Amino acid sequence: MQLLSLLAVGGLATTAVAKSSRAAALERKGIQAKPRYGFPGHSAPIVKRDAATIIPQTNRTAKYVVNGTAGAIPEVNFDIGESYAGLLPISSAANETGELYFWFFPSSNPSAADEITIWLNGGPGCSSLEGFLQENGPISWQYGTPRPVYNPWNWANLTNMVWVEQPVGTGFSQGIPTATSQEESAAQFLGFWKNFVDTFELKGRKVYVAGESYAGRYVPYIADAMLDQKNTTEGYFDVKGIMIYDPSIAEDVILEDTIQNMTFGGLQGFQSVPSADFYVPYHNEFSYESLSASGIMGVTHTERKLTWVAQALSGHMVPQYQPSSGYRQLEFLLGRVESLESRKPFSTQLGVGQPGGEEGGNGTVGGRGV
Ligand SMILES: *[C@@H]1O[C@H](CO)[C@@H](O)[C@H](O)[C@H]1NC(C)=O
Ligand SMILES: *[C@@H]1O[C@H](CO)[C@@H](O)[C@H](O)[C@H]1NC(C)=O
Ligand SMILES: *[C@@H]1O[C@H](CO)[C@@H](O)[C@H](O)[C@H]1NC(C)=O
Ligand SMILES: *[C@@H]1O[C@H](CO)[C@@H](O)[C@H](O)[C@H]1NC(C)=O
Ligand SMILES: *[C@@H]1O[C@H](CO)[C@@H](O)[C@H](O)[C@H]1NC(C)=O
Ligand SMILES: *[C@@H]1O[C@H](CO)[C@@H](O)[C@H](O)[C@H]1NC(C)=O
Ligand SMILES: *[C@@H]1O[C@H](CO)[C@@H](O)[C@H](O)[C@H]1NC(C)=O
Repeated sequence: MQLLSLLAVGGLATTAVAKSSRAAALERKGIQAKPRYGFPGHSAPIVKRDAATIIPQTNRTAKYVVNGTAGAIPEVNFDIGESYAGLLPISSAANETGELYFWFFPSSNPSAADEITIWLNGGPGCSSLEGFLQENGPISWQYGTPRPVYNPWNWANLTNMVWVEQPVGTGFSQGIPTATSQEESAAQFLGFWKNFVDTFELKGRKVYVAGESYAGRYVPYIADAMLDQKNTTEGYFDVKGIMIYDPSIAEDVILEDTIQNMTFGGLQGFQSVPSADFYVPYHNEFSYESLSASGIMGVTHTERKLTWVAQALSGHMVPQYQPSSGYRQLEFLLGRVESLESRKPFSTQLGVGQPGGEEGGNGTVGGRGV
C-alpha cells in the first residue's frame, strides 16, 4: 500500500516531463494543443478573481503568489484561481535550514472563513503533491490521460486547503532529514505551521488535519502535538478534527481490530456493530473528467466522536477513486453535514433532489460492497 503511493508519484513525474516536451515540440511546429473544455456538461473551472483576493496581499505573501491563469502552469489550460506555494522554515531559529514545501488554496466558500485543512500523503516520503494532482486538488491528472483537467471535487471548493510535503526529506522540502520518530516529524510540522499561519495571517482558525496511508501515523501525532501546545501558543493549533484514509496506524493490522482495542471517550472499542448506510448525495456534477458515484457507498458508524467508514468500490486512495465520497467525508469532518448517513444534498449543491427525499428510498444504489 505504501509502495503504491510512492509509485504513483514516480509515474506522474515521468508523464509530466514527457508531455511537456511533446507540447513544446508541437508548439514549435505551430500546432496548438487541443483545448480540454469542449465537451457537453463539463465542469466550470474556478472563476478567476480579478481584483479582490481572499488572502490579504502583504510583503510576506508576495513571494508565494502562484500565477493561476490558464496556461501559466505547463499543460494547465484553465484558471486554477488564487493560490500560494513555496517553502517555509520548520522553526523560528535564524539559522534554520530545514524548510517544508506547501501549496495553499484559500477557498471562496463562505462557510470556510474561520477554518483551514491540511492534507498529507504518506510514505514515509510520499509527496503530498500526489494528493494534490491526483486526489483532492483542483488540478487532476489521472493515470493514462493525456493532460490535466479541473477537478470538480477538489476540496478547496469546501474549505481552505494546504498540501504540505513533510517531514524534511520529502518531495520539494529542503534541508537535511533528521527526524527519526513521529514526535520529531510532528515538531518540524508545528514549527512550519506557526510560520505558515503568521505568513498568511490565519491566526484563530479551526484546524483540520487529513491524510492517507502512512499519514495515518503523521496525522494523529501532529494533531496530538498541536493539542499539547494549543493553550500555550494561542491561535495556531486549534485542532477540531482529523481524518485518515486507509491509515497505517499499526503494523499490518486490520483497522477494525485496532479500533476495538482502543479506548476512547471512556470505553474500549465500538459498543455496537457498524451497520448504517454511508450515503453519497445524488448530484449535478456530470463532467466527463470526473464521473463520480451517488447513493449508498458503504457502511458507517459513529460512537463517542469517532466515525468509521467502510468505503465501497475504492482502492487505497479514496479521494482519487471515489471523489464524491471523499468530498462528502470532508463535509462531515467540517461539520457541514451532521452525519454520513444524511440524505441531504451536498452543501455546495443545495436543492438537488435525492431519491426518496431525506428519508431515503429505493432509488439509491442497493448493494454496498464492503
Ligand atoms: C513592503 O515593502 C516595501 C518596500 O520595502 C515597504 O515600503 C512597504 O511599507 C512594505 N509594506 C508592508 C505592508 O509592509
Ligand atoms: C500569468 O501567466 C499568464 C499566462 O502565461 C501571463 O500572460 C501573465 O502575464 C502572467 N501574469 C503575471 C503577473 O506574471
Ligand atoms: C543554530 O544556532 C543555535 C544557537 O543559536 C545552535 O545551537 C545550532 O547548532 C545552530 N544550528 C545550525 C544548523 O547551525
Ligand atoms: C487547555 O485548556 C483547556 C481549558 O482550560 C483545558 O481543558 C485543557 O486540558 C488544556 N490542555 C492542555 C494540554 O493543557
Ligand atoms: C489487541 O489487544 C490484545 C491484548 O492486549 C493484543 O494481544 C492484540 O495484539 C491487540 N490487537 C491489535 C490489533 O492491536
Ligand atoms: C463547487 O462549488 C461551486 C460553487 O459553490 C458549485 O457550483 C459546484 O457545484 C461545487 N462542486 C461540487 C462538486 O459540489
Ligand atoms: C421500496 O420497495 C419496497 C418493495 O417494492 C416497498 O415495499 C417500499 O415501500 C419501497 N420503499 C420506498 C421508500 O419507496
